[in-house]
Amino acid sequence: MPSFPGYRSRRLRRTGALRALVRETALEPGKLIAPLFVTQADGREPITSMPGVARLSLAAAAEDAKRLVSLGVGGVLLFGVPARKDPLGQEAYARDGVVQRAVRAIKEASPDAIVITDLCLCEYTDHGHCGVLTDRGEVDNDATIELLARTAVSQAEAGADIVAPSDMMDGRVAAVRRGLDGAGHGDTVIMSYAAKYASAFYGPFREAAGSAPQMGDRQGYQMDPANGDEAIREVLLDIEEGADILLVKPALPYLDIIYRVKQETGYPVAAYHVSGEYSMLKAAGARGWIDEERAMLETTLSIRRAGADLIITYYAEQLAHLLGG
Ligand code: PBG
Repeated sequence: MPSFPGYRSRRLRRTGALRALVRETALEPGKLIAPLFVTQADGREPITSMPGVARLSLAAAAEDAKRLVSLGVGGVLLFGVPARKDPLGQEAYARDGVVQRAVRAIKEASPDAIVITDLCLCEYTDHGHCGVLTDRGEVDNDATIELLARTAVSQAEAGADIVAPSDMMDGRVAAVRRGLDGAGHGDTVIMSYAAKYASAFYGPFREAAGSAPQMGDRQGYQMDPANGDEAIREVLLDIEEGADILLVKPALPYLDIIYRVKQETGYPVAAYHVSGEYSMLKAAGARGWIDEERAMLETTLSIRRAGADLIITYYAEQLAHLLGG
């Protein structure tokens, strides 16, 4: 390769048109997924720590999903905020649970929308853990995965296209696949939170969903931020168990994991730019400390460049507007 003065890197950076010509990574609205928080209450209730995001009634969720689809956004990911919680998280798998009702409402208003459902018990349990507890107060892995399979079937019955297990129990992808297939939902896609870290960046989400653990934390099932090789083990296990799309979460502090998962598996990879990552940009932007719009674009582009095919982001609508979707 020639060096200076034969090669001048700046030659291709001189004008916007030249830069566009050699740009390697592009963002498309169709690769973005918008998370929605759904409740059985009325209207829209803003979430303080996530400016621009609200808990939505079923009608508001259907309306937002319709608007997002018309902007070209690839899909919506539903989180339920139930009116009642109990030790077994029963509303997660109730036929008339909040998520099941929201799926039906969205599909009725926008039959072509891709609807993804979060598959976890933490929003539904009164203790806030991602599974049911043993007498000793530990999360009972094998009892939990049976309830997750049951939840997946009820979400698929409501019309979900993709279920997204986010609990980090062992063997849950296999249990969910078995459950779905057994109930005649062989076409329902599994997007597995294959590498989900025990992260400080979920703080605002837990306010939004009221799902902070009442005692202890999630380090007994979510991954240690210090580990990279372990993420690859987790991902390979999920592939073996039947995952269709692999998800890494959070996104920006784990770009190396996104890169490795894509390189080592060649599977469709999704990355979740989580609540705390979003709130940081919002807070700094509101104070004028950073240019929020540029930071949002740069962040999202970096996640894509690292290897994510799909990006779950609270900025989906704003990005879709900017990208002219
Ligand atoms: C449920 C779940 C969480 C998030 C997505 N699914 C919270 C958690 O694990 O505590 C976090 C998403 C975000 O922060 O935006 N297990």
